[in-house]
Amino acid sequence: MNSESFKIAVLAGDGIGPEVMREAIKVLRAVERKFSLPIKISEAPVGWAGIDAAGKALPDATLKLCKESDCILFGSVGLPDRDPTIPKEERPERAALLRLRKEFGLFANLRPVRLFKELSHACPLSNGIDILVGRELTGGMYFGQPKKTEEISAGAGKGKILRAIDTMVYTTPEIERIAHVAFRAARLRRKKLTSIDKANVLENGVLWRDVVTTAGGEYPDVTLEHMFVDNAAMQLMLKPAQFDVLLCENMFGDILSDEAAALAGSLGMLPSASLGAQSGDRVFGFYEPAGGTAPDIAGKNLANPIAQILSTAMMLRHSFGLSDAAIAIENAVAKTIAAGCRTGDIFSPAETGARKVGTIEMGDAIAGAI
Ligand code: IPM
Ligand code: MG
Repeated sequence: MNSESFKIAVLAGDGIGPEVMREAIKVLRAVERKFSLPIKISEAPVGWAGIDAAGKALPDATLKLCKESDCILFGSVGLPDRDPTIPKEERPERAALLRLRKEFGLFANLRPVRLFKELSHACPLSNGIDILVGRELTGGMYFGQPKKTEEISAGAGKGKILRAIDTMVYTTPEIERIAHVAFRAARLRRKKLTSIDKANVLENGVLWRDVVTTAGGEYPDVTLEHMFVDNAAMQLMLKPAQFDVLLCENMFGDILSDEAAALAGSLGMLPSASLGAQSGDRVFGFYEPAGGTAPDIAGKNLANPIAQILSTAMMLRHSFGLSDAAIAIENAVAKTIAAGCRTGDIFSPAETGARKVGTIEMGDAIAGAI
């Protein structure tokens, strides 16, 4: 890591990205003052903002800035209703988000799901939820080749027939490295790891299960269990408190992390970190809220900035080793929630002492609590 300053590339993106990012920067500036941190923030466009500014979802200058930075603090990209003439390969999801994940080798995606006790009204299932989803992020069906839509010969008198192909591929090392990340995380938590697969149907599932079991031999203190993905989807709804760390391949992790997010009351509460391989004492990290651009509420001061703010805390911890500053942010969020501040997504009129606030007020309150 650059010892003179902590260089952060800030890519706010589309939809609610810029407004939640503004609040995260406000909170970051507050910890910067409190802990006298040498933080250097550089902003650049990405997503539709990149297409508008430079004709590309990931403009060259934005990629260059990322390469010169210690980490990326990311908002969200993708507006499904915009310009259908732009081909899918050039749209922000693939051309910016997936490209960045691959470019920086961000194979380990950590999505902590925690239900604040004050928000237990927002989750009817349980009040004891503290799950970490460890999602493999650069393999599986998202990236496997071949990946294409092709025309196959049509039968007589029929129109053209198309065939879409996505390929699920995993190699032993790809499974091993994410398994180790998940086992190490479990060791720091309640020491239970549930590995998700579809070994009853998929070759990938059989290999996944074997490799995770072997890796588990190095962690005798962690209890390992295997669960089929369909059952895991059900168990998350039935008995979410049984889970500590969930280890998933890319696609299953995408789906189960959104399901788990519902347990935290709102997608607007969930941060995430995507980490690459360790090189020396540094890990390149990419930090983003688990939710998306939420175009329906964008620009209305309605979005919950907490996911972006907690992503900033994960950044301070994982990229810069600044646990005190990260804890200061997490405590400020907890304090603000305990004080009754609620954006619309976590507000319930039945809750006494709760006050509905906008994005900006929530950011102000959290920054003020630092
Ligand atoms: C996520 C998102 C992305 C994914 C989309 C926007 C491509 O859903 O980060 O979970 O599928 O990985
Ligand atoms: Mg997703």
